[in-house]
Amino acid sequence: MKEDSATSGIVLRPIGVGRSPYQTRDDVPKGLGARHEAEGRLEIFPEFAAGLSDIEGFSHLYVIWIFDRAADYELLGKNPTDGREHGVFATRSPRRPNPLALTVVELLGRDGAVLRVRGVDMLDGSPIVDLKPYLSSIPPQDLRRGWLDAAEAKAKSGS
Ligand SMILES: C[S@@+](CC[C@H](N)C(=O)[O-])C[C@H]1O[C@@H](n2cnc3c(N)ncnc32)[C@H](O)[C@@H]1O
Repeated sequence: MKEDSATSGIVLRPIGVGRSPYQTRDDVPKGLGARHEAEGRLEIFPEFAAGLSDIEGFSHLYVIWIFDRAADYELLGKNPTDGREHGVFATRSPRRPNPLALTVVELLGRDGAVLRVRGVDMLDGSPIVDLKPYLSSIPPQDLRRGWLDAAEAKAKSGS
């Protein structure tokens, strides 16, 4: 790919660090039906704290963070959910060309530059690069869930 001035030399600066109960990848619930209800903290660095102004009014946030402990990327990989191979961009695998992660969390409260949240799936200490309010305008009936639908149906039928 030809680099242009808009994409060359992009450097992401962490704005904070995610705190979770998970120290190793095996600690994080995985697979079909896994629920992410663990509470954690988003500790925003003092120099970015002013950017949290007015965030309290939102119930949920997108957290964009870095898979800082991922192995090298693979474009096709077996997914633990159904044990089948899928393209990386059809999964949420940590092994991506750009190790960016996206998690929706519920905002429980704010103590200065620390946000208390529910729904973390990152390892403790993962770098956070951005936060945005979660605003979904897509009606649930319009959402298609790709290969996950088949995996869930199969698990339900027990076959
Ligand atoms: C399937 S990914 C989903 C993460 C995020 N919700 C997303 O969709 O981008 C979650 C898994 O990433 C792994 N993980 C969590 N934090 C990580 C980190 N800092 N570096 C590498 N892998 C990590 C854990 O194994 C966890 O089960």
